[in-house]
Amino acid sequence: MELSTGRVSRVNGPLVEVLGLDGVAMAEVVRLGPQRIAAEVVGLAGARATLQAYEYTGGLRPGDHAEATGDRLAGLLGPGLLGQAFDGLLRPLSGAPVWLSPDRPDIVSDRRWHLEPAVEVGAEVRPGDLLGTVPEAGPVVHRFLVPAAVSGTVTWLTADPVLLSEPAVRVGDVAVPLGERWPVRVPRPFTERLGDVVPLHTGQRVLDLVYPIARGAAAAVPGGFGTGKTLLLQQIAKWSEADVIVYVGCGERGNEMAEVLTELAQVPDERTGGRLVDRTVIIANTSNMPMMAREASIHSGIAVAEYYRDMGYDTVVIADSTSRWAEALREFANRTGELPAEEGYPATLASELAAFYERAGLVTTLGGRTASTTVIGAVSPPGGDMSEPVTTATQRFIRSLWLLDRDLAYARHYPAVSWAGSFARDADAIGAWHAAQGDPGWAARRASATAILAEADRLASLAEVIGTASLPAHERMVLLGGRLLRETVLQQNALSPEDGRCSPAKGAALLTAVLDVIDACQRLVARGVAATTVEETDLADLIRVREEVGPADADGVSRRRDEVLARLEALR
Ligand SMILES: Nc1ncnc2c1ncn2[C@@H]1O[C@H](COP(=O)(O)OP(=O)(O)O)[C@@H](O)[C@H]1O
Ligand SMILES: [Mg+2]
Repeated sequence: MELSTGRVSRVNGPLVEVLGLDGVAMAEVVRLGPQRIAAEVVGLAGARATLQAYEYTGGLRPGDHAEATGDRLAGLLGPGLLGQAFDGLLRPLSGAPVWLSPDRPDIVSDRRWHLEPAVEVGAEVRPGDLLGTVPEAGPVVHRFLVPAAVSGTVTWLTADPVLLSEPAVRVGDVAVPLGERWPVRVPRPFTERLGDVVPLHTGQRVLDLVYPIARGAAAAVPGGFGTGKTLLLQQIAKWSEADVIVYVGCGERGNEMAEVLTELAQVPDERTGGRLVDRTVIIANTSNMPMMAREASIHSGIAVAEYYRDMGYDTVVIADSTSRWAEALREFANRTGELPAEEGYPATLASELAAFYERAGLVTTLGGRTASTTVIGAVSPPGGDMSEPVTTATQRFIRSLWLLDRDLAYARHYPAVSWAGSFARDADAIGAWHAAQGDPGWAARRASATAILAEADRLASLAEVIGTASLPAHERMVLLGGRLLRETVLQQNALSPEDGRCSPAKGAALLTAVLDVIDACQRLVARGVAATTVEETDLADLIRVREEVGPADADGVSRRRDEVLARLEALR
């Protein structure tokens, strides 16, 4: 096919107009100027194509050459992604191996990979079937699968290590290389979306016990500057039950991304015995990098996650922050002169957000594996204004909302997840899952905790007016209970080796301990013990236990509970 060429007629930041690109399609990648800058067609009007450039256009001039590629924006998926960092177009950042990139087809990784075949010549294979595995450094087994459009008889298998671009297997007369170029905006196909609700434990108590998320669901973390979004997302990256994490840093500070990388490289991975970084892919488009690659980065991130999902893994995509991503949309929309919708964002904001979050899912893959892509996005509403367009539109597409509260963060209650403004739409189904797993008390504990927290908030406002001493004793115990729940269960010190992550069993034990202690306090005042006497009992060892026993030590928590209950019993 002859690829058409044209001439740049106008350059306005990332917006470039080109004349004469006959037959070019929407979303097609065009290369601009002597540096062959990648740009995507976003508008067509007669002979004029409007392009969104993914790199600085400073050197680009009207009259420069433009060349269609016939391809959509694509990233190369294959072994070598894990443990590495890429930019928004899936090109390696410095320190990563040289990578065959969508933007620089001239750069080919010289690394050869060894295929351990799982099939023999003569085997009949269908899309998603396992062709072999490729040993990598980390614990995640790289499964090399039959691509979606290929099926037939295996006619040849390589005996030698191959480059990503070289054929590794032939199916009929189709050569299948280890590397697969995938148009990142297109969801990778699967057989069926599953309705099952299985929790994804994050290791963060306030989430796992109160605002849980299901595997394959989407969640958002809105919060003002400094409320702890990045730290919470990093904790989830480190400690959630996922097999593979894709961490997309969009528009945030470069040093934060560098920190994530170095930290993950240091943290040993208890689940696999390796390093956490070996099951993580970082996609960084920091505030100092070209703005429009930020727009592509979240799609690249989700395509990578789907790639591992297809291998049968539970994956999590973390995007920090989707607001910076939306700013790129706005920046571009403002240059096109199209009539802006709310606050300058394009009218397509909601559908663009949907295109991201709706790629989350628990599915049966083409190869018949059950696997998931969970999507978690930070939202940074300017001035903490929850009614701004990105925050409100996002809420339509997510199942869990983890709202970070400025007052909690200010009071150093971390993670500052608000129990008043957050929600988890799958909480009932997750309660049923816990019951089926032998913990019928999960839902009741959650209900008690949220009821006490809400009641304690109400009573605290009342006490501000009339004074705590004027409240009846049982209400003073609710206030005490609220404080114990906040300080023992909800707060979690990210920097503590014991407390930074919490196993589901330890979390359940902590919540049980606090609810039992609250019950004991209520019984004491009902029997006539003065509320002040109970309030003045030192319960610091209950609060401290989360940092004093190991991250999975439920028994240690239960022993502490028994000690505290015995001490309270002595007050009678
Ligand atoms: N769970 C936590 N444990 C301890 N400190 C925290 C926690 N969460 C947040 N912080 C503190 O808050 C600061 C700001 O958090 P950060 O995640 O960078 O905020 P944001 O991304 O919302 O701007 C952190 O540097 C840290 O000092
Ligand atoms: Mg941040």
